[in-house]
Amino acid sequence: MSRQHVDHNDILRFATEKVNLPKDKADEYRAQARRLREKLDGYLAEHDDFSLRKMLLSGSLAKGTALRSLNDIDIACYISGADAPHQVSDLLNYLAERLRKAYPNFSPDQVQPQTYSVTVSFRGTGLDVDVVPILYDGDPDWYGNLVSQDDGSFLRTCIPRHLEFTAKRKKAQEAHFAQVVRLVKFWARIMKAEHDGFRFKSFMIEMILSKLSDQGLDFSYYPEALQHFFTYIARSGLRERIAFADYYPASKIGAFSEPVQIIDPVNEKNNVARLYTTANAKLIVDAALDAGDAIDAALAAPTKQETLHYWRRVFGPSFQV
Ligand SMILES: Nc1ncnc2c1ncn2[C@@H]1O[C@H](COP(=O)(O)OP(=O)(O)OP(=O)(O)O)[C@@H](O)[C@H]1O
Ligand SMILES: [Mg+2]
Repeated sequence: MSRQHVDHNDILRFATEKVNLPKDKADEYRAQARRLREKLDGYLAEHDDFSLRKMLLSGSLAKGTALRSLNDIDIACYISGADAPHQVSDLLNYLAERLRKAYPNFSPDQVQPQTYSVTVSFRGTGLDVDVVPILYDGDPDWYGNLVSQDDGSFLRTCIPRHLEFTAKRKKAQEAHFAQVVRLVKFWARIMKAEHDGFRFKSFMIEMILSKLSDQGLDFSYYPEALQHFFTYIARSGLRERIAFADYYPASKIGAFSEPVQIIDPVNEKNNVARLYTTANAKLIVDAALDAGDAIDAALAAPTKQETLHYWRRVFGPSFQV
């Protein structure tokens, strides 16, 4: 195998320059989210019957897996109380109205309900904040019914445990776990742009990589870690159930009928991949086969030009060393 033209360090440099959200940006956006949360805490201190109970940075910015292309800040908002509507469109209007109350400095049009979330837009600097509602019934571990950003259904899940779950994998392979997650997410983004109908949810990618990491795969050499990921997808055809024993025993997992089964590590009844059809899975498997072949070819290519050509099949035309 020739690693002369593109090696681990070249992939790392590409990731740093083109894939990862730079640290100063991540810090800035996290601070923006923190100010919003603190303002709500301030309002709550004076209105203890207010139904917005807590805001929590969720998603890739919270997990340290965000891409440079990040275009909004995900914040989960816990809503409790008997008068909170249980229908999504009403709930979003309700949430928007309460946010306007808690943030009187924002003009009402800066707080807008979208299809499955409420956007808070900042004038001038910063990204928009996407506030996702969670219906909350007082669970001490902060389980609640999250409005799915895919189809608006309610999913019982636990964001703090998701963060803890990922923190554990990040700690097991410091820097490398999160980096490989970002590289695979970047690949999926390129595939989505190139192939009609291609979809591969970030959370699913993260769960598959978590499983491979738990099974002992070493993520520290990126060409190989990526090759293993693609080989796993191709070999399994995405037909192997993926589940974890962090928060419930495997024996509690029931039967699922969907073709792709990636079970939420915090709720054994929630299949994170439930919206993925056989056709969706096939597109992912085909793309993974192609990426695997391309990496093999890249590692064997005699010239730098050819090597770059193959890596660009994985990471798109912006790939350079
Ligand atoms: N089907 C689901 N069931 C339970 N929780 C989910 C589900 N989908 C998303 N989540 C929660 O929402 C968070 C964000 O998921 P998403 O797939 O948008 O990934 P992300 O890490 O924010 O990546 P991206 O950079 O693409 O936004 C997850 O970390 C998880 O806590
Ligand atoms: Mg996100």
